Amino acid sequence: MKTLLYKRILLGVSGGIAAYKSADLVRRLRDRGAEVQVVMTRGGGGFVTPLTFQALSGRPVFTELLDHDAEAGMGHIALARWADLIVVAPATANVIARLAHGMADDLLSTLCLAADVPLLLAPAMNQQMWRAVATADNIATLVNRGVEILGPAQGEQACGETGPGRMLEPTDIVQMIENRFRTSLLSGTRILVTAGPTREAIDPVRFISNHSSGRMGFAVATAAMEAGAEVILVSGPVNLEPPDRVRYIPVETAEQMQAQVFNELEHIDIFISAAAVADYRCVKVAANKIKKSGKSISLELEKNPDILAMVSAYRKKPFTVGFAAETEAVHENALIKLKDKRLDMIAANQVGQGLGFNTEDNALEVLWPGGSASLGRLSKDKLARKLIHLVADRFHEKNSNQAH
Ligand code: C5P
Repeated sequence: MKTLLYKRILLGVSGGIAAYKSADLVRRLRDRGAEVQVVMTRGGGGFVTPLTFQALSGRPVFTELLDHDAEAGMGHIALARWADLIVVAPATANVIARLAHGMADDLLSTLCLAADVPLLLAPAMNQQMWRAVATADNIATLVNRGVEILGPAQGEQACGETGPGRMLEPTDIVQMIENRFRTSLLSGTRILVTAGPTREAIDPVRFISNHSSGRMGFAVATAAMEAGAEVILVSGPVNLEPPDRVRYIPVETAEQMQAQVFNELEHIDIFISAAAVADYRCVKVAANKIKKSGKSISLELEKNPDILAMVSAYRKKPFTVGFAAETEAVHENALIKLKDKRLDMIAANQVGQGLGFNTEDNALEVLWPGGSASLGRLSKDKLARKLIHLVADRFHEKNSNQAH
């Protein structure tokens, strides 16, 4: 199962014999759909060559902090921003000590310091080194800071001794990474997300559509699923793989999208409208391909249903979240839409200038009656997770107010 689809995992490999197991870890993470970027310490490179990891991850391996080529491409700050999660496996006593003390004297320690994402360490060392008070103190410091320590396991060690200090098996590490992306913020809820563009036919070969890639809606559906919700994703035509464990309903036109949404609406707690629904469709769809004849032609268009507004006006209205793509006055226009469509929340973004449609990154301004939050420029996956947090907060607050 592609349980880690599109997740960006930065794997730090430091110098322990268990580094050979990390090659298998890369393969397993990629099997689950993750993108894996390996960063090795000098010691790590002594056990397994960067070439092995490059072949398995499909990406060049980074090792040096002060590497001109690497800094020009993906420097330590870019790497720290790229990652959704950092896992160091194996994490030697030395790396653990250096991270505990906030050292930044090589690439891995520096980017751990520069990253604001979950950090997971899979210790691997001799049992006496693991039991040493210094190591225990360092581990306690890291745990206190929210670092997650995976294992270590007990058993026979490469040095011939027996005890705690063996690196966990890759399958266990993968599972812990999967768990780290899960929360129970929305467990017990049913969420319907719309995504992608719609396509409105002109004739059998042509259509009206827009630049929506569907990425934001897919990311929102994935984040909602990871937050424990049961998710239905209704999407127009896109080039994306549907996330695992999401019920996927592909559609073409706005009217089809509306029909599918209304099919499910009765049993939905939260509706998130990330689709770029075409506002107009052709009054008449030509039965045959329209011939190139006159100098100009006219198409008569009629309004499509405003699905979001209709959901919001439904007698059993779910918690309703809209999106607003604006080219100017983002905040003001979003506020107007929030009120006019009587939404519970709106996520607005500026399109153009490398943001918005068909881009990797986005920046969202989220508004709700009585509040707002600015989610700065981030990957759509990260934004989606933050948005789902806000949705969960507001949804639970609204429900508890209604219960009283
Ligand atoms: O009013 P505007 O189209 O800009 O509003 C954007 C929001 O409305 C988006 O969430 C979009 O999915 C939704 N929408 C809709 N049906 C339409 C047009 C927009 O659900 N026909």
